[in-house]
Amino acid sequence: MSRVPIVAGNWKMHGSRAGGIRLAEGIRLGFADGIFPDLVLCPPSVYLDCLSETLRESNIGLAAQDLSEQESAGAFTGELHGSMLVDVGCRYVIVGHSERRLLFGESDGLVAHKFATAQACGLIPILCIGEKLEEREEGITKRVLARQLGAVIERCGADAMKEAVIAYEPVWAIGTGRTASPELAQETHAFLRSHLTAMDATLANSMRLLYGGSVKPDNAAALFSCPDVDGGLIGGASLNASDFLAIAAAYPDNK
Ligand code: PGA
Repeated sequence: MSRVPIVAGNWKMHGSRAGGIRLAEGIRLGFADGIFPDLVLCPPSVYLDCLSETLRESNIGLAAQDLSEQESAGAFTGELHGSMLVDVGCRYVIVGHSERRLLFGESDGLVAHKFATAQACGLIPILCIGEKLEEREEGITKRVLARQLGAVIERCGADAMKEAVIAYEPVWAIGTGRTASPELAQETHAFLRSHLTAMDATLANSMRLLYGGSVKPDNAAALFSCPDVDGGLIGGASLNASDFLAIAAAYPDNK
């Protein structure tokens, strides 16, 4: 097994300081029983510092949900530099989540810039890509995914993917309760892996491809059993410790 699976919980803009500590504590205690995939929590940035304390004695990683593309700190009101995220204990950062792309107008170019800045700061980017419903219906899913990946590869090189995680999140499956079937997830992940392998053969066995979009305890096992699915990026279900742990525990330990 060369690809260590990851199950990451994206809390989005939810919770409170006390609730976040309770949730992280519940996950930490449950994880102590020994769950196979790497676990990563992505709370709102304002809680990263205190949760890094909560998770200090654990193997659970911490991720920010976004970062500034700026290469140096400076006069950028409201922004967070990657080095600040490292400073409060982050190992990962999500870049290009579809909500950032669609609600905040982040272009492929800006996402690529953020990816580059994240790596320059020593963070592992979790790069989100995914097609909208109309793009799937139009039959252009692969073209959209290749374009989103291409922007990052053009800026950073295929080699940069070795120190990154990709999350395939079909936009129509996020927060909708409508999950991609295991067949569709596998087909898309296989495409992504072969697309990357064509650029750099060594990526085939190192590239971690997560699936995201309405992953729940009752559908996680079927999705995680797909050969090219190396874990998940979990939104809604990560706000409940037992659901999140059940999803992580659904990862087959013989894969
Ligand atoms: P969801 O969100 O699990 O609530 O669909 C996934 C995500 O946005 O990362």
